[in-house]
Amino acid sequence: MDMTASAEAQPNIALVKYWGKRDIARNLPAVGSLSVTLADLRTQMTVSFAGSNQDTLRVNGKDEPDMLARVSHCLDLVAGCDRPAAAVRSEGNFPIGAGLASSAAAFAALVVAANAAANTGHDRLALARMAGAASGSAARSLYGGLVELSADGDQIELTQLAAAADWPLRIVVAITADEAKSIGSGDAMIRCAETSPFYPAWIERQAADLALAREAVAGRDFAVLGAVAEHNCLKMHSVMWSCRPPVVYWNSATLACLETVRSLRSSGHAVFFTIDAGPQVKAICMPESEVAIARALESTPGVIRTMSTGVGRGARLIG
Ligand code: PMV
Repeated sequence: MDMTASAEAQPNIALVKYWGKRDIARNLPAVGSLSVTLADLRTQMTVSFAGSNQDTLRVNGKDEPDMLARVSHCLDLVAGCDRPAAAVRSEGNFPIGAGLASSAAAFAALVVAANAAANTGHDRLALARMAGAASGSAARSLYGGLVELSADGDQIELTQLAAAADWPLRIVVAITADEAKSIGSGDAMIRCAETSPFYPAWIERQAADLALAREAVAGRDFAVLGAVAEHNCLKMHSVMWSCRPPVVYWNSATLACLETVRSLRSSGHAVFFTIDAGPQVKAICMPESEVAIARALESTPGVIRTMSTGVGRGARLIG
């Protein structure tokens, strides 16, 4: 049996955010979320069940022992605790740990590669749940297009609301810092739940935001989707800012980018922003506005560079 397989996955960006855990041990989200899977930011994972003594992990050509425990645990979920040791290699074309959902792409690709290498035959939903146990947002990267994750039951459910070709949105990412963030999203979520006075309100209003966004996707209503996404994003960051000690992922360029997006919108462009657990700003727009938005963000003070992408497919085997 061939015990090696490679998979590729794209990160996804939430338009209605996952922030908070209902069950920390199982990594179950406290709220549902809705995301768009990207096309051109890629992580490729190769898993070889080589039968050596210990799992190993190389990321972009370097050993990464710090991330190994999470990877090993995820491999156990896919292939069982009695599996052979694995050599895992990851290559990506965008910065890791900087608020670009690198963990989402990584764990989505990992479960698909491990499932093929171990010949375990799990279906997509089962793999999404396993990826989600490692990184909540990773479950969404198993699916392409616009994806809803529901957290109502004892296990997460996933639905593709629109395929990549159904709504050709463009996403311009403004990179405002290249270094990894100071606190990971998992620890930050726990701190928010324990200390932010706004956390209960955040949880309580999420179903309404999700319903609005779901309807906007069904009707391809860009303005409604943009309004709920910006509101949801700023609410999530308000929860972070109001916890103790505060979690502030933004820098001055992050705020400057929001001004740029708002002024582009006032001049007639269909565009809205979102920001995840990091300082980068993602501007979602209609294709005809992409060039103007990329130019305006590039000349915004503090922006290092921009990357543009369309809507992509779910995680899949390669090679
Ligand atoms: O999947 P995690 O644990 O890295 O958390 C993701 C959190 C956000 O990116 C801020 C929101 C989201 O829904 O992706």
